[in-house]
Amino acid sequence: MQGSPCFPLSLAKGGGEKGGEGFGDRAMIDTGIKERVERLREEINRHIHLYYVLDQPEIGDALFDQLMVELKGLEGLYPELITPDSPTQRVGAAPAAQFAEIEHPVPLLSLANAFSDEELVAWHRRASNLLDGAAFDMVCELKMDGLAVALTYEQGVLVHGATRGDGFRGEDVTQNLRTIRSIPLSVPKEAPQRFEVRGEVYFPRSLFARLNEERVAEGQPPFANPRNSAAGSLRQLDPRATARRPLDIFVYGLGYAEGSGVPDNQWDTLEYLKALGFKVNPQNALCHSLEEVVDYYRRWRERREELDYDADGVVVKVNPFSFQRHLDVVGREPRWAVAYKFPATQAITRLLGIGINVGRTGSLNPYAIMEPVNIGGATVKTATLHNEDDIRRKDLRVGDWVVVERAGEVIPQVVAPVVSRRTGEERPFAMPDRCPVCRTAVVRPPGEVMTRCPNTACPAQLLELLKHFVSRGGMDIEGMGEKLCAALLNAGLVKDVADVYYLTKEDLLKLERMADKSATNIINAIEKSKSRPLARVIFALGILHVGSEMAELLASRYRSIEGLSHASEEELMEIPTVGPRIAQSIVAYFQDEGNLQSIQRLRGAGIRLEEEGAPRREGELPLAGKRFVVTGRLAGLSRSQAEARIKELGGSVGSSVGRSTHYLVTGEDPGSKLEQARKLDVTLLSEKEFLQMVGRSY
Ligand code: IVH
Repeated sequence: MQGSPCFPLSLAKGGGEKGGEGFGDRAMIDTGIKERVERLREEINRHIHLYYVLDQPEIGDALFDQLMVELKGLEGLYPELITPDSPTQRVGAAPAAQFAEIEHPVPLLSLANAFSDEELVAWHRRASNLLDGAAFDMVCELKMDGLAVALTYEQGVLVHGATRGDGFRGEDVTQNLRTIRSIPLSVPKEAPQRFEVRGEVYFPRSLFARLNEERVAEGQPPFANPRNSAAGSLRQLDPRATARRPLDIFVYGLGYAEGSGVPDNQWDTLEYLKALGFKVNPQNALCHSLEEVVDYYRRWRERREELDYDADGVVVKVNPFSFQRHLDVVGREPRWAVAYKFPATQAITRLLGIGINVGRTGSLNPYAIMEPVNIGGATVKTATLHNEDDIRRKDLRVGDWVVVERAGEVIPQVVAPVVSRRTGEERPFAMPDRCPVCRTAVVRPPGEVMTRCPNTACPAQLLELLKHFVSRGGMDIEGMGEKLCAALLNAGLVKDVADVYYLTKEDLLKLERMADKSATNIINAIEKSKSRPLARVIFALGILHVGSEMAELLASRYRSIEGLSHASEEELMEIPTVGPRIAQSIVAYFQDEGNLQSIQRLRGAGIRLEEEGAPRREGELPLAGKRFVVTGRLAGLSRSQAEARIKELGGSVGSSVGRSTHYLVTGEDPGSKLEQARKLDVTLLSEKEFLQMVGRSY
């Protein structure tokens, strides 16, 4: 609900020419109109309060706009009815040349900080001692990281709004504060004659990224954080510019109040301010013990990401004002309050360079290399930069001072450059035109955000692919981490993901620092992974744009890799969530000779490439449905090589000859299996015949 800024068109009341002759006699304004104007104002203010303060709108934008149009129309016809607190007057003032200075009648204080439970306890003990051991309640409020302001009301109307400045003198930003709809322009008659409300103006986090995108698109530097954008928005000389920003406020106290009926403690003051129509943080809490305070702090330390504003700690205030007066202020910090800070999530450091990682699908992933900086107890020296467009959107340049954020378990992010610290030496970033690992010319298909290395044999891609292949969501081979993957590639033991299934314990023992026990465990884990469901195998292959959900979908639809490999783009696009990008990528994957070979070898190693119970389509592969047994010593290949080849071609291998056996491959010294085969009329194959059948000479 933004309220229509345009001037009304026509009105129910006849005439319509503003200030025209027919309305010359001002004394003649009929009381009905005056009353209607007042009623409209009341009604509009009520809806503004419901929407912007209580977050409980009763009507939609259209109805609201209708009321505004009517009020603006009447005020246009009868300008003498306009009052400064009319909702039409929020964005009225002309741009200022500069802000006037305002002296605060009562200084705006700072807060002492606590960074640990011990420091909080020390603060509490000191206050208790000064109060001769008297018990007291405490109010916990989230410490919003915005901009402190003081709002002065006289005879029920907002007359001044000032920034904190140095605490003694601030800037007069009244016209800009008036544009914030959660700040009432007038308050009920019961309010004190003259009083000052204090609060924190903030810029909602949910809208911050969008603001920065717009700024960079317009060639303006992005804001480093929501706090800076609140400050920048409030300090616009033209109130219309402020009005376009979605600023908001929470009030947290009274600076002074002349008049009676004002509460004598902090908790009731918050309730009182709410009743006067101010926006008070609903998360405030009254605590009766230090334990409750610590609980509150811990809860919000964990949950602060859920808030739509930055909160950098909890302000703990002694509740009774009589106690506050007794505790008093030392320097500029009151002893009756403390800010128990959350661990930092942001820090400023230098962007030393932008590195590139080559991902599994060949994407060139830029990352920030920074001067190491401590954020909330952890040292951060790299952060993700997503892609080229993101770097451009944030206008990051190598050499910039940057704001880095690390929140919870999330990978550190570079939020924005600190533009004011630029020297002119900073260099904009450009994506390299060759893959940094294999030097192949990179491509960025139209409409895609990622630049890619098209060389599927790129060693960097292979490492990422292998890591992905063995990862938890893929074949889930326990014990095969990044280091082992890299070592296997470096040793040349794995050149393709399928090679994992041909590794022997002896191979593994060739690696440095590989103990016998670990090698056995890994071989067992590899064996165990052979029976992963089809969806996991499809995901593990690392087909571009095919994530785990898509893999599930494809597995249930096609029920085998074989089936999926024959799907056309058109057919794939019949699946609701498959668009041309995904379809093309799948088809391209199965057209690649290397990929097909890899799949054959997976099949050969006994990986399940069908959904359990999937009907086999006869004739799919030359040996489909045929069961083999291999016996005796073969001259040109090992038994396991022969068995792998049979499986590659769709056949199955048994250990004993039975009625279901089709072929017995016989080497030297065949033993009893030959007898059995003869009895059951099983076709016998010599090594030579077998090699002719499977079409490969070893
Ligand atoms: S009380 C002595 N309450 O924190 C009392 N301040 O260092 C001083 N702030 O910029 C203020 N949320 O605007 C108080 N709930 C809260 C607050 C709060 C944020 C800011 C305040 C000032 C700074 C005080």
